[in-house]
Amino acid sequence: MARIIEILPSILSADMARLADEVESVKAGGAKVLHVDVMDGHFVPNITIGPPVVSSLRKATDLLLDVHLMIENPDRYIREFIRAGADFVSVHQEAVTHLDRTLNLIKSGGAEAGVALNPATSIETLATVIELVDFVLIMTVNPGFGGQSFIPYTLNKVRQLAQARRERGLDFRIEVDGGLTPDNVAEAVRAGADWIVAGSSVFHSSDPGRTVEQMRRLANEATLSRI
Ligand code: DX5
Ligand code: ZN
Repeated sequence: MARIIEILPSILSADMARLADEVESVKAGGAKVLHVDVMDGHFVPNITIGPPVVSSLRKATDLLLDVHLMIENPDRYIREFIRAGADFVSVHQEAVTHLDRTLNLIKSGGAEAGVALNPATSIETLATVIELVDFVLIMTVNPGFGGQSFIPYTLNKVRQLAQARRERGLDFRIEVDGGLTPDNVAEAVRAGADWIVAGSSVFHSSDPGRTVEQMRRLANEATLSRI
């Protein structure tokens, strides 16, 4: 089946004082979904944004909002992020004790549910819940900061996951996040990724809209040679 490829600009690397303008520029480049990184200073060693920013974004743009929760005890905040406007919510496998319950909480709130895996976490940990997820987010850096270098072995997990998806006839999306650039986006797509998060490579470029456009073109070309 033909899969839909999207480039998701991560606002972590945007100029927060000009957030609405930054969003407009990536929208002009064809972005359909914004990636929103939520960090709590506990699960990851950094603090970012909370529901009020999601709520302001919801009013400022019609782009879809993909909220990546890098926080402990996400169950406590899921409803609030969905109320604020999250369309997609991912939680970290490593931060959740009752994953089945958490996924159901996201879905019953009306959002699509994803599980994120750190580079060191095996995809086998998802075998039992894979039929419940709308997407899996494979971290291609250790979560916590933008601008880190892509970790190549993480694409083996994308390949294994894409194979499991084919074999089991499932339809979840595979999202990759961290260190993605115009230079490695094709490789990620060939491995099986559908959604490509890109923070610094987009917002630290001279023309964020054009970078989104360029990455999307490279990604779509790569689907033609996907294994
Ligand atoms: C990292 C975040 C990423 C981050 C990616 O913990 O989850 O979404 O914004 O930034 P880049 O693309 O700069 O690696
Ligand atoms: Zn992220």
